[in-house]
Amino acid sequence: MPKLPIDPASLIDTSHYPLGSPHDTRYQKSLTVTRTQLERDGCAVIPDFLSPLGLSWLLTEAEERRKSAYFSAITKTNVYFSADDASLAEDHPQRIFLERTNGFITSDCYDDSSASRVLYNWQALINFIQDCLGKDQLYIYEDPVSDMIVNVLKPGSQFNWHFDTNEFTITMLLKSAVSGGHFEYVPNLRNANDECYDEVRAVLSGDTQRVACLPLSPGDLQLFLGRFSLHRVTKNTGLSDRLLLIMSFAEKPGIIGSVERNRELYGKVTEKHLEAQTQRVRADGLMD
Ligand SMILES: [Fe+2]
Repeated sequence: MPKLPIDPASLIDTSHYPLGSPHDTRYQKSLTVTRTQLERDGCAVIPDFLSPLGLSWLLTEAEERRKSAYFSAITKTNVYFSADDASLAEDHPQRIFLERTNGFITSDCYDDSSASRVLYNWQALINFIQDCLGKDQLYIYEDPVSDMIVNVLKPGSQFNWHFDTNEFTITMLLKSAVSGGHFEYVPNLRNANDECYDEVRAVLSGDTQRVACLPLSPGDLQLFLGRFSLHRVTKNTGLSDRLLLIMSFAEKPGIIGSVERNRELYGKVTEKHLEAQTQRVRADGLMD
């Protein structure tokens, strides 16, 4: 690997995606294509976004930390990540629990000098994501455990159908499964006013009519609006891991995850989480 300090631009294919030059026609073209895809499908892929150097460096960093990955004890969830509700009919989507195997290399495994974190903190990347999503201002997520993580889909694992709680997700595939491990989604299956339970039930029952499979290659950047589009990663039927780098951004500074969610998904919390929770409780007390 090249010597430090790392130039984040060397990790991106800047010949096609000149981050830091927003007036360049190639930058503007990427925005147009990405925004069109997002509007139509709730999903956009920017192919070969990472340079060969960037991909090999980020993959090496993930593989070096793979032994530290945490696998959640919760292995079955419904598409809403909510509890069972016995008052509903047995075939209600809220009562359909599917296998989910979650493994993450958490962000505390990366120090600030790692290439992955240098890229994540790069203002030109944040600006580009912001422009693609049409947001006024994005900030890095300040959660010390989960701001930038790697999802590990080990052989035999799957991340079953679900909706995201966050509006958008930014990922870079570092390593594909040799077989299986495909990203599938149903664009705009629900909307802000309607859960569309019948349509959700149909997909969970195996109806593939509206299901799209998104081909992804290592080095691609994916932007996904997962709040309304049901999605999953199919079972990894190969013999090696599928590795996906997830970068989180927020529309306000200082946002971090809850104690409960960090414990469940990542197996750890920090002083910062506990402090934030105390402040939340206090704020609620004042409201009362
Ligand atoms: Fe998701």
